[in-house]
Amino acid sequence: MSRGNGVPPLEARGITKVFTGGDGRALPILGGIDFQLSANETVAIIGASGAGKSTLLHVLGALDRPTAGEVIIEGRAVGTLGDEAIATIRNRSVGFVFQFHHLLREFTAVENVMMPALIAGIDEAAARNKAEGILADVGLADRLTHKPRQLSGGEQQRVAVARALVNDPVVLLADEPSGNLDTETSGMLHDLLFELRGRGDLSIIVVTHNHNLADRADRVLVMERGRLQPRGEG
Ligand SMILES: Nc1ncnc2c1ncn2[C@@H]1O[C@H](COP(=O)(O)OP(=O)(O)OP(=O)(O)O)[C@@H](O)[C@H]1O
Ligand SMILES: [Mg+2]
Repeated sequence: MSRGNGVPPLEARGITKVFTGGDGRALPILGGIDFQLSANETVAIIGASGAGKSTLLHVLGALDRPTAGEVIIEGRAVGTLGDEAIATIRNRSVGFVFQFHHLLREFTAVENVMMPALIAGIDEAAARNKAEGILADVGLADRLTHKPRQLSGGEQQRVAVARALVNDPVVLLADEPSGNLDTETSGMLHDLLFELRGRGDLSIIVVTHNHNLADRADRVLVMERGRLQPRGEG
């Protein structure tokens, strides 16, 4: 496969996104975005509320399709693929962490983390083993059987990070992962993200309003008027 062979984990070419507003008018949100992510790179995306950061992340992670342009994940143009192949990419190549954890309430931490591995066809014992290992890596070895409501907000986000990484994605896409946490807990989550960067070929794109987090990234891009620009050149 393309890992470790110089193919960029993720590329965007000429991405546009036009929504239709409630009044039926076209709402252009992304105005032609070209972007290339390198292996092991951490990129922070900042910008005003409503600028289109989440929209872009969804398109980059193949959760949504662009109006025009191409997203290329591990060398494969997502727009040319059928639904099943796209689902596989979402499951194996990309990990998502959102502002709210979106963990399944009725399942334990380890079961939540196992889920994407089971969907990928890994057998249950191996999936559990993998999930337990990653939960230990994120500091939750003694919370394996807690349900989400029995975990603190920071712990819930760490489970969400573990779940995002269980299938060894090449790209972790994080949308305001610490937006819902206090300063100290946010700091711990950020430390975790930067520790994880050393894992395999993992690259990270993080959307954040948090300047401490943005300042630690290799690159900071600002979303403004539908475009991404390097910070300081707006
Ligand atoms: N499905 C949709 N239909 C119509 N408009 C949408 C849709 N999704 C998003 N928008 C609009 O697109 C714009 C960008 O939304 P987006 O969620 O990407 O912003 P954001 O930069 O992530 O903001 P925030 O920092 O508040 O999370 C907003 O004005 C929003 O109302
Ligand atoms: Mg958003």
